Amino acid sequence: MEKTFLMVKPDGVQRNLIGDIVARFERKGFKLVGGKLMTVSEQLASEHYQEHKEKPFFGELVDFITSGPVFAMVWEGDNVISTARQMLGKTNPSEAPLGTVRGDYGLTVEKNVIHGSDSKESAQREIGLFFGEEELQTYEKHD
Ligand code: CMP
Repeated sequence: MEKTFLMVKPDGVQRNLIGDIVARFERKGFKLVGGKLMTVSEQLASEHYQEHKEKPFFGELVDFITSGPVFAMVWEGDNVISTARQMLGKTNPSEAPLGTVRGDYGLTVEKNVIHGSDSKESAQREIGLFFGEEELQTYEKHD
């Protein structure tokens, strides 16, 4: 079954959005198989955002994601990677339609509330960076 990595960023945690975001994915029918409130280290942030290392905003990106606790999650379900991306909306909240997480709650591209894996490869890589195998649960979910 397909899995993806989602992370409520420090702005989302500080604005009490964890519950709303989790509820959206539960109601959609996806299964939460891992979740934890944690502070991201500079090393983990650099690894997670390695593809942006050369970008001018890389320093700000690392500073922001390490600035306060995040809520890291692993969700499971059919096509969860692309469906979750649609539910998050475009990276820049000003381009994200209302009804999406970023369209409803975000204002700037830096503080855009949530991160979601953009491909099978990045989902696998990001899940492995943030979670040990023993932290992921297997259970029956009822509709
Ligand atoms: P995310 O999905 O976490 O992946 C990379 C992040 O870089 C992205 O969300 C944005 O929050 C961030 N980002 C993209 N462009 C900029 C920018 N111009 N300035 C600051 N952050 C940016």
